[in-house]
Amino acid sequence: MKRRIGILTSGGDCPGLNAAIRGVARAAYAMCDAEIIGIQDGYRGLIQGEWREMARKEFSGILTLGGTILGASRQPFRDMRVIGEDNVDKVKAMVKNYEKMRLDCLVTLGGNGTHKTANLLSQEGLNVIGLPKTIDNDIWRTDVTFGFHTAVDIATEVIDRIHTTAASHGRTMVIEIMGNKVGWLTLYAGLAGGADVLLLPEIPYRIEKVLEAVDRRVSAGKAFSILAVAEGAMDENEADMKKKRRQEARASMPWQSVSHRIAAQIEEHIGVESRVVVPGHIQRGGSPSAYDRVLSTRFGVHAAELIRGNVYGVAVGLRGEEVINSPLDEVAGKTKFVPADHQIVKAARQMGIGFGD
Ligand code: F6P
Repeated sequence: MKRRIGILTSGGDCPGLNAAIRGVARAAYAMCDAEIIGIQDGYRGLIQGEWREMARKEFSGILTLGGTILGASRQPFRDMRVIGEDNVDKVKAMVKNYEKMRLDCLVTLGGNGTHKTANLLSQEGLNVIGLPKTIDNDIWRTDVTFGFHTAVDIATEVIDRIHTTAASHGRTMVIEIMGNKVGWLTLYAGLAGGADVLLLPEIPYRIEKVLEAVDRRVSAGKAFSILAVAEGAMDENEADMKKKRRQEARASMPWQSVSHRIAAQIEEHIGVESRVVVPGHIQRGGSPSAYDRVLSTRFGVHAAELIRGNVYGVAVGLRGEEVINSPLDEVAGKTKFVPADHQIVKAARQMGIGFGD
C-alpha cells in the first residue's frame, strides 16, 4: 500500500530528532510503498509551503547527528488562529498545503506546543501522529521524551567539571539548568552530579533555606557548594504572583537571572565567593546518547506501524518498557510537572540534598 508521509520537527531542537526521523522513514520504507515529504523548519514550512520529496539516502548517516536535518522553528500555538499583518490564515494554509502535498498523514516531532498544534490539525481532519521530543521531559502520557537523557548526560558532565574547580577555590557554584516550567532536567542532572541544593520551578524556595544549606556546609568544613538551579526556579513570593507580574518583577531586578540573584545573595549574606555557570543551549547540542538513539528509533518505528494501520490522531509515548500511543487530545495542553512528592525528590531529600523549602 502507498503512503505519502509528511514529517516536520517543531519547537526547540534536541538530540534524537534525526534518529527519530530515520526510524520513521526506514520502517515506513520497509512496511509500505512510502514516499517521505520533508517539511522545512516545522510548522513554518507547513504554513508557507516549503517542503521537498526526500530520497532514501537522506536518511542514511543521520542516527548520530544532533539537531534536525529538517530545520526547526518556534511557531507559538497561541498565534495559530490569529491572523497577523501578513494576512495569512495559518490553519487554513496548513490544511491547504497538506492537501497540496497529497499527504496521507503528517508526523510531527516536538514538545508541548507542537502537540497542541498537531491536535488542532487533527481536529481539522488531518491524519496526524505526534512524537514526544524535548529536553524538558514534560510531555503528558510518556514516561520520558527523547532528548531528555542526552541533556541529563550533558548537564551532569557540566556539574562534574564544576565540582573540581569549585573544590579548588572553595566557591559556591550556581549552575543554571534549562527548564523554564519544569525541573526534570535539574532533578536528574543535579542528583547525578552530586549537587548540594536543587531548585526546581515546582518547589518554590525560600532564600533563607538556601543560605542555611550553604552555611551548614561551611560549618561542616566543606569549603565549596554546588547548587543546580532550574532557569524557571522561583522563590515563594514569586510563586504567588501571576506569570506576567513575576516577569515584570524579575525584569526590574539588577540580576540577569534567578541564578545570578542567588549567587549574589550567598556572597552578601554568607561571604562565600560565588560564581554562576549557564551551560544554556549546549544542553540541547550534539549527538544523542545511546539511550536516546534507541528511544527515538523505537518511537519512529512505532509511528510507521501506526501509519501502516491507518491509526491517526495519536501521540506516541513510553510507558514502562512499552511504546504506547494515546489520543492527541488527551496529551495536548497538559504539562508533566515534577510532583513534589516524586520518589526521586524523596530520595534526594533522604540524602540530605536541599530543595530550599
Ligand atoms: O523546551 C526546551 C528548552 O530548551 C527549555 O528548556 C528552554 O527554557 C527553552 O527551550 C529555550 O528556548 P529557546 O531555544 O527558544 O531559547
